[in-house]
Amino acid sequence: MPPHPHCHWRGLQDWKTFGLDFSTSSDEACKMFDACLTQMVNRYDDESVGGTEGCMKNMFQADPNFLIGHALKLGATFQFVHKDYAHAQEVYKLAEMAKQPHVKPWEQKHAQAVVYLSEGKLDKASDVWEDILVENPMDMMSLKFLHDIYVVNGGSQGLRDSCARVLPYWKPDTPFYGDLLGMYAFGLEESNMYAKAEKTAKQALDINRYDAWAAHCVAHCKEMTGEYGEGIKFMEETEKNWNDNGLLCHNYWHWALYHFENGDFETCMSILDNHVLPFMKSKKTMFSVTDVASLCFRLEAEGFDMQSRWSECFDVAKDHIEDNIWSYYDLNTMMVCLGSKHKDEADRLVASIKATIKEGKGDNAQVYSEVTLPLMEALNAYDDGEYDTAVEILKPLKYHIWKNGGSHAQRDVFNIFAIHAAMKSKLPENQRYANHLLMERKSQKESTPLADRLLQKLVISH
Ligand SMILES: [Fe+2]
Repeated sequence: MPPHPHCHWRGLQDWKTFGLDFSTSSDEACKMFDACLTQMVNRYDDESVGGTEGCMKNMFQADPNFLIGHALKLGATFQFVHKDYAHAQEVYKLAEMAKQPHVKPWEQKHAQAVVYLSEGKLDKASDVWEDILVENPMDMMSLKFLHDIYVVNGGSQGLRDSCARVLPYWKPDTPFYGDLLGMYAFGLEESNMYAKAEKTAKQALDINRYDAWAAHCVAHCKEMTGEYGEGIKFMEETEKNWNDNGLLCHNYWHWALYHFENGDFETCMSILDNHVLPFMKSKKTMFSVTDVASLCFRLEAEGFDMQSRWSECFDVAKDHIEDNIWSYYDLNTMMVCLGSKHKDEADRLVASIKATIKEGKGDNAQVYSEVTLPLMEALNAYDDGEYDTAVEILKPLKYHIWKNGGSHAQRDVFNIFAIHAAMKSKLPENQRYANHLLMERKSQKESTPLADRLLQKLVISH
């Protein structure tokens, strides 16, 4: 991947001109901070600066007490202090560093936000980062962390508005301007403003055609509007621009979704096996597990044997059963445990969710109680062939599923789950419910071959 358009790293004075006044005296630390942030925002490694890892090492070599550098590192490490002792020690050390008199107020706020985030208090963390932006609208680090939080907690308006509020302060030659447009575009898409989202994403791509997040946003727009043919064409035309970026697995996942919806299961499976699965096996991240698992769930619902793929997912997910970081991850892990026939591990996951609810720490306790646990019970019932029970649990959850976070496209797996549970139920009222859900899908998209073929199936079976 070629270097990002912004690769003239900013020193202390350069940052000051953007209103960001660091308490360090090290020019080099500031430059390495810029390089780290650029790579994180763009999900790639710039080998000319040693990649994100090498860059971070150089940043702390230049100034071991560089507060904003520590805030960047810890804010990007999405871990909770009550789950990870080593992380807790680093987070509270940062909080102590922030008390030193030379530390600037905006830096102190970053430290506070990282403490909240690490304690699982995502709402409080986002309040602080939003607050920093009121005084420092050019602060991409706040924007990036807010973007991450709003993806995790389903805050679609926050995704959109955190970018919209600061955009007028930015100029086209401001470093990260294209990235900000890409992030704004995703917020617009998640707020169902598809035309404006696609236009904004394409503006970002005009600035940097290698912007994988902006390309990803176009992919979302095509998914949500039901322009699957257009989506496939876009992915074919842009593949070489994002297929060595950290987002490649997820972008291939989007591509596979178009074929799944079209009923071209062979191509869907081929993308899964040639791109999505190999990435998961190599990187072993939970994000990549969710891409594989949610495709496996969709394909299994259509009658395909996904056993070997489920087992490969389990090999990665088994180390994250008690992480309890993010509801969307946990629910995908539940699918993996059930799909790979590890019922005991599914029970261990449910037990850890219950323990988190009981402990009451962080925002997850409420989400787990309201949505995650019942959804897991519904998945369990579905796996046991108790489709009526699954539908009964799913119905009242319908307008609360956004609380799991993730995007519309990611959460669509729960719509598909509800449709198949209702279709498999023998109760006539559940069959009618399936029909209603499919009609709802048809009303939302220009075309939905998935709804058409499942409606056809419903008619044939009755
Ligand atoms: Fe996506």
